[in-house]
Order: sequence, then C-alpha cells, then structure tokens
Amino acid sequence: MSNSRTVDIVRVPLGERSYDILIGNGILPIVGPLLEERGLPKQTVIISDRNVAPRYLGPVEQSLKRSGCTVLRVIIPAGEKEKNLQRAGSIYTTLLRHRISRRSTILALGGGVVGDLAGFVAATYQRGVSFVQIPTTLLAQVDSSVGGKVGVNHPLGKNMVGAFYQPSFVLADAAVLRTLPRRELICGLGEVLKYGIILDERFFSYTRTFLPRALRGDRSVLQAMVRECCSMKAFVVSGDERESGLRAILNFGHTVGHALEKAGRFSVLKHGEAVLWGMMAETRAAQSMRILPERDAREIMTLLSRIPLPPMPRPAFRSLVATMRLDKKAIEGKIMCVLPTRIGAVNAPAPVDESVIGRVLQQMRRYKL
Ligand code: NAD
Ligand code: GLY
Repeated sequence: MSNSRTVDIVRVPLGERSYDILIGNGILPIVGPLLEERGLPKQTVIISDRNVAPRYLGPVEQSLKRSGCTVLRVIIPAGEKEKNLQRAGSIYTTLLRHRISRRSTILALGGGVVGDLAGFVAATYQRGVSFVQIPTTLLAQVDSSVGGKVGVNHPLGKNMVGAFYQPSFVLADAAVLRTLPRRELICGLGEVLKYGIILDERFFSYTRTFLPRALRGDRSVLQAMVRECCSMKAFVVSGDERESGLRAILNFGHTVGHALEKAGRFSVLKHGEAVLWGMMAETRAAQSMRILPERDAREIMTLLSRIPLPPMPRPAFRSLVATMRLDKKAIEGKIMCVLPTRIGAVNAPAPVDESVIGRVLQQMRRYKL
C-alpha cells in the first residue's frame, strides 16, 4: 500500500469527548501507534465484515500487534440485515467467551453497517469500552463514522435502538476506497454533494469541478472531499451533539429519500441512492414553495443529476406520505423537510404540504436524467 505521508487531521471539539479524525492515503498501518499515543487499552477486538476483512484486516492487525496489542477478530457477514440486536447479542457472547474486559478497545473496520453495530456493542458491552472507527466506505468516511450515532435496526424501524457514543479517534484511509464497488462510491458521493448544498457554496463549486475525477475514484480528490466533509460534520456535531437543533440539517434529502428507500423494502435503492433522489425532490419542493431561487435550484439539480442512479421507484403515493408522516422530524403528522434556501444554506425542518411533494415527484418521473 503506498503512503503519501500527508495525514490531514480534523478535530471534533466536544469537551472531554473531543477526538481527531485522521485522513490520509495508505495510513492503516498507523493504527497501532495512534492507539498507544492515546493510551487506549491494548486488549483489542476488530469487528469487520466478510468483504472488508480479507482485504484490510491484515495491516490493521499487524500494526496493533507491533504496538503490543492482543487482537480478537470478529468477522460478520456483510449487509444491512446484520445490523440487529441478534447480531449484537452474538458478538457479546464471543467477547465474554474470550474474556474481553472493560479495559478493552473495539475497532470497527468497515462501512456504516459495521461502524453502527460495533459502536453499539462498544457503547453497551460492560457499560462501555473504548471505541475506534476505521471507515472503509466513502459514506462511512464522510458521515457515519463521525458524530457518535451508533445503533441497530428493529423489525419495526431502522436505527430504532442506539446511543450517542463518540469514538476515541477515526482513521479514514482513502487507499481502501479503490476496492469499493461503484454503486457504493456513488452513495458516498451523494453525501459529499449534500454538504456543499447545505453548508458551503465554495465546496459546492469544488464538487462541481471535481465530480468526474471523484467518480473515477481519484484518491487525492476523494481524500480532499473526505477532509472537507469531516470538517463540516465536526462543526455541526460540536454545535449540537444530540440533534436538538442544528444537526437536523444533515437530514436534507432524507424525508423523501427514506420514504423511497422504505417503499422498496430497503432492497431496491441503497440509502445513498435514495437520499440523492430525495435531495432532488426536496430541492424541487423548495423551488416550488419559492423558498429557493430558481437559478440555485437549477444549479443544484444539474449537479445532482450528473451522478448516475437507478430509476426512481414508483410506489403508491399514499404509502410514501404515510412513511413521511412517521419520520422522526414529523410534528403532529405534518411532513417536515430540510429545504435549501440558496446554495450553501438550508432552513430548519419546515412543514411541506403533501400536494407539493406529490407534484414534484410527478414532475421528476418525467425528468430526464
Ligand atoms: P455498508 O456498511 O453495508 O457497506 C457497503 C458494502 O461495501 C458492504 O457490502 C461492505 O462489505 C462493502 N465494503 C465496505 N468497504 C469496502 C471496501 N473498502 N472495499 C470493498 N467493499 C467494501 O454500507 P454503508 O453505505 O457504508 O453504510 C450504511 C449504513 O450506515 C446504514 O446502516 C446506515 O443506517 C448507516 N449510517 C449511519 C450514520 C450515522 O451517523 N451513524 C449515517 C449514515 C448512515
Ligand atoms: N447522518 C446524520 C447525523 O449524523 O446526524
């Protein structure tokens, strides 16, 4: 693995729970020294999945062992279906059988599924052990590994059981993205574009220029994107760790997106793809409500539609509305969306009439990507 020697560090300032995100190219082998430097327990457990472990567990394990750590590997099947209480339970059993103590460190090596599940186990095993995130998808590097949301799904709802539990550090290595399936890269890029739209006009222009290189997997561009997105997420999370206000803006595209994802029973669209469709729908809604100037709406739509996507599903509108009314942001059954007001700014979640969403979805089905 090549090592370009530049490591970008983004600090997440959260008082005594502050931590660093280290971003580089070929930096998995620094995990052991980082763990030592931070005085984390050297009894370690790496939780990973069957796609990631054969590729990347080796350098992580070797680095930890060189730093004097013991390592227990817990490898789970890949996929969202593993993010549940049953899988968490089987991991607790493995940890207990191997006499993993309270003075241990759990490292999540994988995408958002592994990160959320391993973080939930770290938060709850013996009332909490040290936790490190090593995200291996673009989505996990720019979003899920930062900010401390950990949890599992319940048969009655996604992410319905969980906690806020911050890692001790995050190690994001752009080199691992080279083996990421293209569809997963696209999901991550959707989140990358989201940051420019909601928070930073300058970054929006950057993504417009560098999107083609990112789509080709250019590591220096992806590393720069991860650094910028992590800085923005750190800013948001440090202002509102437990999502009582500002953090909700990260949900741009998620009201419609989640409804589309659920309508396909989470198997037609991936989360990132659904959020991309959701961002387009919510941009159009903001334009039609005259919250967003037409010119900005056009620029946002032009950028989003440069990402290749599977067709938007066509579920019954009633079922979409029912899901949106149950969204966590909904108030008294009113559909609430985070809407852009210009490129680089959004409002707090605001009510959107279902007729507006219905009209927008109708238009988008005709919209040629
Ligand atoms: P994922 O973890 O399922 O990973 C996608 C696929 O890519 C998997 O098959 C995985 O094995 C494979 N993979 C991962 N890294 C790879 C690599 N480097 N090379 C080859 N294959 C690789 O999906 P995801 O998109 O990373 O995460 C989605 C999950 O994240 C969802 O459960 C979602 O709820 C959660 N999430 C959490 C937060 C948060 O704040 N905690 C935010 C957004 C999403
Ligand atoms: N992904 C949304 C958040 O972390 O709040």
